[in-house]
Amino acid sequence: MADWTDVAATDDVPEDDVIGVQAAGKDLALYSVEGAFYATDNICTHGHARLCDGFLEGAEIECPLHQGRFDVRSGKAMCAPLTEDIKTYPLKVEGGRIWLQLN
Ligand code: FES
Repeated sequence: MADWTDVAATDDVPEDDVIGVQAAGKDLALYSVEGAFYATDNICTHGHARLCDGFLEGAEIECPLHQGRFDVRSGKAMCAPLTEDIKTYPLKVEGGRIWLQLN
């Protein structure tokens, strides 16, 4: 059985933008892309930078440190210097809240 954790209100995530949240001891990034929501780890797979401080363009988040880009829908690393994808989390919206499967 999936465990869902309430991490934020949908209203907390500005349209077409990214925020950082903490839940269950994890540093997470939440994205709003054309009305849909996505979640990934917040710390870049390349160095110690927080993706919530980066720049979201469409469905791609650009890391603030070396401008690596991930597709937030799949976690896929899109360009150098990234070599590792970022972890994504199953997400659902219910009752105006964003719920993630963190395990
Ligand atoms: Fe993110 Fe280097 S720390 S691209």
